Amino acid sequence: MNVKVSPNSIAPILRGLVLAEASFSCMVKSCTEGQPCQKARLSLDVDDDILLNAEIDDAQLASALRKAFRPQDVQTLRSWLSNGEDIRVDLVGRDGGVFAPYILVPLEPLDARHRLEIEAPGDESLLPSAARASVVKGKIAFVTGGAQGFGAEIARGLAQSGAVVWIADINLPAAQRFAQKLAAEVGELRVYAVDIDVSDETSVQRAFELVASTTGGLDLVVSNAGILKAGSILEQPVKDFRLVNEVNYVGFFNVAQHAARLFRLQWLGDPDWYTDIIQINSKSGLEGSNKNGAYAGSKFGGVGLVQSFALELVEYRIKVNAICPGNFFDGPLWSDPQRGLFVQYLNSGKVPGARTVEDVRRFYEAKIPMKRGCYGPDVLKAIYYLVEQVYETGQALPVTGGQVMLH
Ligand SMILES: NC(=O)c1ccc[n+]([C@@H]2O[C@H](COP(=O)([O-])OP(=O)(O)OC[C@H]3O[C@@H](n4cnc5c(N)ncnc54)[C@H](O)[C@@H]3O)[C@@H](O)[C@H]2O)c1
Repeated sequence: MNVKVSPNSIAPILRGLVLAEASFSCMVKSCTEGQPCQKARLSLDVDDDILLNAEIDDAQLASALRKAFRPQDVQTLRSWLSNGEDIRVDLVGRDGGVFAPYILVPLEPLDARHRLEIEAPGDESLLPSAARASVVKGKIAFVTGGAQGFGAEIARGLAQSGAVVWIADINLPAAQRFAQKLAAEVGELRVYAVDIDVSDETSVQRAFELVASTTGGLDLVVSNAGILKAGSILEQPVKDFRLVNEVNYVGFFNVAQHAARLFRLQWLGDPDWYTDIIQINSKSGLEGSNKNGAYAGSKFGGVGLVQSFALELVEYRIKVNAICPGNFFDGPLWSDPQRGLFVQYLNSGKVPGARTVEDVRRFYEAKIPMKRGCYGPDVLKAIYYLVEQVYETGQALPVTGGQVMLH
């Protein structure tokens, strides 16, 4: 695949090389010449012909960058990273000019759980899952629709488990407010907010460019942004049907495409490293939903995309899976006092005999064998499982308290 040689296309490859060479997670930030110089500084000599090429085969670019790392550079890098020092890395052309300066910010040392290096049972990559949340420690995650609801729960859980988190949302002020709150808990360098409309390709591209120039790469993309517009097939306007599909179905395509391109560049730096695209689907992606066809159709389609992308991207060690949660009754979608589904269903008389919001809630809880709705931590456990499990892809994992079972 051809790429334009730019600081943003180099950053993920550089991050991949550091993952491969030093087994240490880091962020790779593009910086300008004027920025204050870090104490530790590494210069890598790269062929001008490569750097100045307008378009180049991405594998050729990765190989030139790999060649620039001499064994002594790798040694130096390892010791700086383990001291927790930020490192300035300059790519230097033959004439001595700096092509692209970066700052490497060390995150965490990495174990072998995310590589395909299984020799035998007992290998480190088969570590027990008791400390499953630790699989995201030092990883960089991107959560769409991260400003509220499931997305916010996921972003918070990942950050609290030691991941760097991007909160990507169409509601930027809400994403920024939430990011600020979270940063007060886990540190400013660990949380970023970014504006994204997943249904708009240009907006998605811009968001991923910001990722490349700010954290260099990613390890996990949670495609969570989604909307619901219920309506009968006899009455629903096609514009509502289209809107739901633009966000839930086309939006997942847009996010997965840009995530896969970034992951592939990073993979060229580290061909053993596993990355994850996880779609937050729904139980309605596994079973039809009465008077809710636009939503169910968009989610069923999501499973088709997940399976197809998984087959193609496995070559680059990119796993693609879906999680299909049950209803999050305590989230705003259901519980918002003005527009929540409980109020809507009460007002529309959808639940026979219900006189209060509590009656409607009890009606829906009674449908679940485990008698409660789904919560953020239920979904997080599924995320940790999918990230840790390097021997599965293309799956749709129900988290529904037994309400939906696979055939
Ligand atoms: N709430 C549930 O009961 C439930 C159950 C199963 C699955 N889900 C799925 O979980 C995901 C999150 O649902 P939720 O209930 O937390 O939703 P929510 O409405 O509470 O939050 C959705 C977030 O996505 C953002 N968003 C909306 N459109 C966007 C767009 N085009 N681009 C970027 N961001 C956008 C919103 O601003 C909001 O912050 C959805 O995919 C939904 O289908 C929800």
